[in-house]
Amino acid sequence: MKLDAKAMRYFTAEDFRVLAAVEAGSRNHEVVPTPLIVQLSGLRGGSGVHRSISNLAKTNLIAKVKNAKYDGYRLTYGGLDYLALNTHQKQKSIYSVGNQVGVGKESDIIVVAASDGSQRILKIHRLGRISFRTVKTNRDYLRNRSTGSWMYMSRLAAIKEFTFMKALRENGFPVPEPIAQNRHTIVMSLIDAFPLRQIAKVGNPAVLYAELMAMIMKLARYGLIHGDFNEFNILIKEETITNEKGKAAENAESSDEDIRLVPILIDFPQMVSVDHVNAEMYFDRDVNCIKRYFKRRYGFTSDDPGPFFVDAKKQLRKNPGKRLDVEVEASGFSRKMARELEKYMKDVGVDGDAGSAERSDLDDDNENDDYDEDEDDEEEEDEGEGDEAQGEEQSFGDSKDQHADSIDRDIESSSQRINGLKVSDSG
Ligand SMILES: Nc1ncnc2c1ncn2[C@@H]1O[C@H](COP(=O)(O)OP(=O)(O)O)[C@@H](O)[C@H]1O
Ligand SMILES: [Mg+2]
Repeated sequence: MKLDAKAMRYFTAEDFRVLAAVEAGSRNHEVVPTPLIVQLSGLRGGSGVHRSISNLAKTNLIAKVKNAKYDGYRLTYGGLDYLALNTHQKQKSIYSVGNQVGVGKESDIIVVAASDGSQRILKIHRLGRISFRTVKTNRDYLRNRSTGSWMYMSRLAAIKEFTFMKALRENGFPVPEPIAQNRHTIVMSLIDAFPLRQIAKVGNPAVLYAELMAMIMKLARYGLIHGDFNEFNILIKEETITNEKGKAAENAESSDEDIRLVPILIDFPQMVSVDHVNAEMYFDRDVNCIKRYFKRRYGFTSDDPGPFFVDAKKQLRKNPGKRLDVEVEASGFSRKMARELEKYMKDVGVDGDAGSAERSDLDDDNENDDYDEDEDDEEEEDEGEGDEAQGEEQSFGDSKDQHADSIDRDIESSSQRINGLKVSDSG
């Protein structure tokens, strides 16, 4: 179901206050009772507020929920998206919304424009979107998950990503420019490049490989491990080299013109410190992802069996960079937040793009080796909740399952309709 962009444009200031009130009420209430919405909106109770509530429910920015004890409303993901977009627009980090360019496993990636017409990227974190539906072993945990925790965790992921991107950028790492963060979203510069995954041929794989390994080692020298370092999260920019003598530089695809492949690193919600208890495992996984990919895709295997985590630790002692793992804790992403997010990601089975990389490797060996998403969908239909219309009234008190499934639908339709959303000029 698509969002009615026109309805959005006709939102009144009252509608907006009521939406903000439902969000504020969600901090302490799974289902926000109607009288509390009225109170938090600061508007006088009466037909105005109720008209706003009904407008918002009709456009699916809030959803009516029948609790065991009382009726009320909860914010939908569409509502949260809208609030975040509105803030970005007010703060002038977004002027208009364009097309969706990517559906990451845990995010939606949308091209937006600034007021000068320059393009940017809006990343909306949708933590657990895929995992919720595919990880059977966690079903009990998921049955009990609440709207609040999903929203909170997606916000933590956005804060984490923004904080790390900023620290990396300030220290000369090749990452997008972080522009703004709000709720579960971040705005960053658009990198006009394709992921390594889409680069079929590399003239000199050894050079690019060495650069990527050097990047992993440099991250470690600054106290960090990316944690999801693979062909999906490395964008490859092609830069034409203009050399004085007209000679190709060392790292050039010399057969054609003088083109240099410049890797840009993205996707930071899984970063960990080199002091993390499983640091070595994450480090090795990052290294091996690249090794495996270069072998399979470009037929390249390095003579060097490393780099190894002990080497990374050694160079960290000898020639330490600024400890960014420590810096981010001080600048907005605390150790407590890191622990909460990590536990949640583990519980719901978020495995980043590394998981997809491994699965697609399997696919190459065995084409029938399918992802089990279909099976799970069937299971949900068996439970009798197949195609219920989005935005319908839900009974929440008596069926947590139904509640959880309605959230899944919410996320899906929210991703679809964000495309139809144009932020209004008036704010
Ligand atoms: N700043 C950006 N510029 C251009 N493309 C981007 C940018 N950020 C993300 N993308 C595209 O969106 C995809 C998913 O983004 P990513 O941050 O990796 O999300 P996820 O966490 O869901 O994997 C990337 O593989 C890339 O193609
Ligand atoms: Mg990614």
